[in-house]
Amino acid sequence: MSEKRSEQRVKWVVGNWKMHGRLAENAALLQAVADGAAAMADTIRIGVCVPTPYLAQAQAVLSGKPVAWGVQDISTYTHGAYTGEVAAEMACEFGATLAIVGHSERRAYHAESSELVAAKARRALEAGLTPIVCIGETLDEREAGTTEAVVGAQLDAVLNLLSVEEAARIVIAYEPVWAIGTGRSATAEQAQAVHAFLRARLAQKDSSLARVPLLYGGSVKADNALALFGQADIDGGLIGGASLKSQDFLAICAAQKAASQAR
Ligand code: PGA
Repeated sequence: MSEKRSEQRVKWVVGNWKMHGRLAENAALLQAVADGAAAMADTIRIGVCVPTPYLAQAQAVLSGKPVAWGVQDISTYTHGAYTGEVAAEMACEFGATLAIVGHSERRAYHAESSELVAAKARRALEAGLTPIVCIGETLDEREAGTTEAVVGAQLDAVLNLLSVEEAARIVIAYEPVWAIGTGRSATAEQAQAVHAFLRARLAQKDSSLARVPLLYGGSVKADNALALFGQADIDGGLIGGASLKSQDFLAICAAQKAASQAR
């Protein structure tokens, strides 16, 4: 991927709080992220995906600030008898613009198939949310040499359902399952290799899709972020554990800004 084309892609750092947070600690974290983001918003986009009950709090603190907010999952339905589900439109009413879909924890603990994840991505787009579609292989799959087959099939499920125009509006997060929450990040070279594969697959569908932002997720920390974000096909990060401390999250954002400026 040439440096020029890389410059045209949007650079992101998005926090995935998972099921963490309480009102008081969120208030301090959101405010610190909003304050710190002010110096970086000219170069990169920053977002946080919070537990759904805290959307109103995110909206109250982040409105007018250069930090987007969103949810960690959405229903494939707009409304109806689906106890416990949250519609994309409901998130939109609280100013959300982002929705993680297909996180490996949803795939593993809630048996979400790639087809369901694709339907969620489309639902998000219909509601006006940017879906961050997560894909990634397990350790067994990597060790069996099937990483490309696995992530390729996960990506294809989405590309088969969406039109090219719709697919151009998604963000993809490559998150190797073995690297999530384990402290064992993929090396920059391992991540880059998969990102290059994914970008080629997107471009194969339509040349315009080469610009889809590809984030890396899985034990991104302040000390490995620069090496990861410096890779030609890595457009940013989806950050779990390190998004819960403002200092750590902002250090990762700063690494992304530095990597963007070095391009
Ligand atoms: P982690 O999680 O940064 O804690 O590894 C990333 C994710 O699951 O999105």
